[in-house]
Amino acid sequence: MSRRSVFDTPKAYFIYGILIGLFSVFGMSGYLLEFFSTDSQSMNYLNGVLPQMDFISKRKSDNPELAVVNKKTDDDTLAKILEEKVRVLCWVLTQPKHLENKTIHVKTTWGKRCNVLLFFSSVPNQTFPTIGLGVPEGRKYLVQKTMKAFRYVYENHFYDADWFLKADDDTFVIVENLRYFLMDQNATNPVYFGQHFHKYSDKGYNSGGAGYVLSKEALRRLVVDGPEANDCVVRGAEDVRMGDCLAEIGVRVGNTADALGRSRFHAIIPEHVILGQFMAWYENFTSAKGGMESLSHYAITFHYVDPMAMQEMEYFIYHIRPYGIKRGMLNIN
Ligand SMILES: *[C@@H]1O[C@H](CO)[C@@H](O)[C@H](O)[C@H]1NC(C)=O
Ligand SMILES: *[C@@H]1O[C@H](CO)[C@@H](O)[C@H](O)[C@H]1NC(C)=O
Ligand SMILES: *[C@@H]1O[C@H](CO)[C@@H](O)[C@H](O)[C@H]1NC(C)=O
Ligand SMILES: *[C@@H]1O[C@H](CO)[C@@H](O)[C@H](O)[C@H]1NC(C)=O
Repeated sequence: MSRRSVFDTPKAYFIYGILIGLFSVFGMSGYLLEFFSTDSQSMNYLNGVLPQMDFISKRKSDNPELAVVNKKTDDDTLAKILEEKVRVLCWVLTQPKHLENKTIHVKTTWGKRCNVLLFFSSVPNQTFPTIGLGVPEGRKYLVQKTMKAFRYVYENHFYDADWFLKADDDTFVIVENLRYFLMDQNATNPVYFGQHFHKYSDKGYNSGGAGYVLSKEALRRLVVDGPEANDCVVRGAEDVRMGDCLAEIGVRVGNTADALGRSRFHAIIPEHVILGQFMAWYENFTSAKGGMESLSHYAITFHYVDPMAMQEMEYFIYHIRPYGIKRGMLNIN
């Protein structure tokens, strides 16, 4: 009878069992420890990068407040400061039949960001409200309407703003960018800004559809000196006539290109600027080339924006965000 080795007894197997057990527990926990420490390192790293990391580590369904919290992470400090420092009155020329289907979308989108927002129409409407100009509808009365509206603004709101923007009911304005541009300008200079057009006028003028903004001094001259000036007649194409009038009373067309020569005011829709696909008439009015590279990242206006597109622009500019990308400021003046 062969003698069993001490390593081959039930007692030995019992000890092997214990050893294997201990080994798996410690080995496994060592592995787990390493797993967790790596994980917490990367968590720490991400936490440093992204303060709202704790929201990411939770499932969205566990965190119904996610949307609210994300909103709080928006920082509009600079825009709020500019809202007080660069006061802009916006006035929009519209028509009674546009109010419900068109003009309302100006009121609920970009218009609400102006320091003062006024709507002018041929007749008053206390509900909307619109101010009645007592001038008939129609293209040929546009200059007359514009002159009267600026007079009303001068008489009633001269001290409520430093800059006075005229826009159509199909112009979309990124008001924060307008203030950012105007921040470096002096409202006591006789100047107005917009998209520079050069057809039908030697001096050039700012497009009506792209919207233009008068300095306080430009507004004062228009209303006080305008009536005495030969060129301030109330007939013809609105923007051309306004340009001639303003030129005669010493108000110049200011440059609105950014430091890289890119455009901020646009008399056409964004798609057409981006693709550089212009209507024939547009090419006659401007030397703009178009293309994504020609467009300022601090663009201010677009024109022919229909009501639904206005709501779309509102969504694309102020609501949608590519997740995980925090937008920075650009040092472009
Ligand atoms: C405004 O919208 C209403 C309802 O969709 C429509 O019946 C009406 O014809 C529109 N008015 C104009 C002036 O387009
Ligand atoms: C005045 O405006 C209100 C509100 O937008 C609108 O419901 C109403 O039809 C307008 N009245 C007239 C006479 O256009
Ligand atoms: C603005 O222009 C006026 C007159 O041109 C000048 O007196 C004033 O100092 C200027 N202000 C600034 C802040 O440059
Ligand atoms: C553009 O200007 C040219 C030259 O003045 C003219 O012949 C042409 O008809 C204009 N095109 C449009 C679409 O206005």
